[in-house]
Amino acid sequence: MNEVDVLTVFIEEGYQISPEAVELICSHCSPERLIQQVLGNIDTSVLVIGVEHIDIDSAAADPANESTDGPVTTFVENSADTLRIQTEQPLASVITSSGSPDFLLSDNPVSIISDISDNSTCVGEYMEFVQFFRNRYSRLSEIIRSRVNARPIESLNKNRSPGLRGGKDFGDVSIIGMISDIKSTSNGHKILEVEDPTGSFSVLVRMADKELYEQATHLVLDEVVGFSGALTNDGKLMIAQKIIIPDLPNTMAKKGGSFGKAVLTSDVHVGSTTFMEEPWERFVDFLRGDTDNEALAAISKEVRYLVVAGDLVDGVGIYPGQEHELNIPDVYDQYRKAAEYFDEIPKNIRVIISPGNHDAVRQAEPQPKLPECIRADFPSNVTFVGNPAMVNLDGTKILIYHGRSIDDLVAAVPGVSYTEPTRGMVEMMKFRHLSPMYGSRVSIAPEKNDHFVLGQVPDILHCGHVHTVGVEWYKNVLLVNSGTWQDQTEFQKRMNVVPTPCQVPVVDLATYRTSILRFDE
Ligand SMILES: [Fe+2]
Repeated sequence: MNEVDVLTVFIEEGYQISPEAVELICSHCSPERLIQQVLGNIDTSVLVIGVEHIDIDSAAADPANESTDGPVTTFVENSADTLRIQTEQPLASVITSSGSPDFLLSDNPVSIISDISDNSTCVGEYMEFVQFFRNRYSRLSEIIRSRVNARPIESLNKNRSPGLRGGKDFGDVSIIGMISDIKSTSNGHKILEVEDPTGSFSVLVRMADKELYEQATHLVLDEVVGFSGALTNDGKLMIAQKIIIPDLPNTMAKKGGSFGKAVLTSDVHVGSTTFMEEPWERFVDFLRGDTDNEALAAISKEVRYLVVAGDLVDGVGIYPGQEHELNIPDVYDQYRKAAEYFDEIPKNIRVIISPGNHDAVRQAEPQPKLPECIRADFPSNVTFVGNPAMVNLDGTKILIYHGRSIDDLVAAVPGVSYTEPTRGMVEMMKFRHLSPMYGSRVSIAPEKNDHFVLGQVPDILHCGHVHTVGVEWYKNVLLVNSGTWQDQTEFQKRMNVVPTPCQVPVVDLATYRTSILRFDE
């Protein structure tokens, strides 16, 4: 382990470290063990780790401090300070060599696992919506059915007469359905209308069942859910005792990918007056290794992939009055400018671009990749995919979804907010669906297959859209919202949305450890 490696570990954990401390760690017989010991014991109020924070004797005596960790995610809150201060310190004096390999583009393969592009079946007819929702129901109910022995709703509606059924006589029953209505009673209980292909039924969730009720507050329209409970004596209502959501299995194994780094970003918004061009250029300089900070240069050398989760440009006609906030009024000129920026990115980095609601493709989701007339301006290291799309980056399955449904989830689910964008992404994992609610902010194209169903579980879910950065683990899936390159717009001021621009999550593909680099200073 050389000095750059040591430095990089501490930067990724959100700490600065003095040159003397780096030297001390490198001189130790087991630098990895010592680093674990330091990170495990350091007070989080410490910004700069010095030799006084390193207990060499303790590390030598404690073999339990061996590095056996799996993937770890770190949200580096003070990265801007970190980078600025490191630039001011003579760190170069302690660095001998980066030791990082250089990659060829061919070393960084990408394969597309799922993508609507060139596979759209939808023309917008009524029956296509029926087929779309049946596809959703059958795929999600199959996941739930492995955990509950459910009966068709039709069987509950038959022979509905007092005395013949209900309560203990009929026993507990289970159903799986799509939620078509959510109401509250005057006493505050929740009544959910649940449909399957055979009929519909009402399910009551009582306020007194606190855990169940809390779980029910997270349910949204058009989500597929299982319920177990007892029927009332008239057979017209189920009193819920258990709610079974599709969710990810608890047995999801921790997984590492290959090597190197994937840089995740989104919402560049080229063409907007609030696009932050100078920080973006500093970011491109970083990707080119063009930085005085050797620790950053070392990270840069490891970058194999750059993934963009939508809103490459600001577009035109997206919201009323947008023309007053554009410095490039023509959408094709916006893409030509974006292509120039992407041409500056080293050609050995594989770039993947997926569209968002500001891009020049259909607004209804799933969205296909950008059209050929736009793609043609971009360099050959750029791969275009639709939204959503799952791609394989040399062993890492990353699901890219712009994240428009977070707008719906903020309105519908308690605890989901624009300041904590990954909370909405956790709900997507629990629904096993990226955008369940039909008829709200997300317009949904009725494709034959519901492309939002999470059949295959990704290693990473990468969203954007809300312009705030967030990183979180959910059952060993890494959830990343990659923020924006656009400063606060007038619309966001009115909506009291405060973006966190120019912050870039960088995922280590071997460990999925994530750090956030800031380019706003
Ligand atoms: Fe955006």
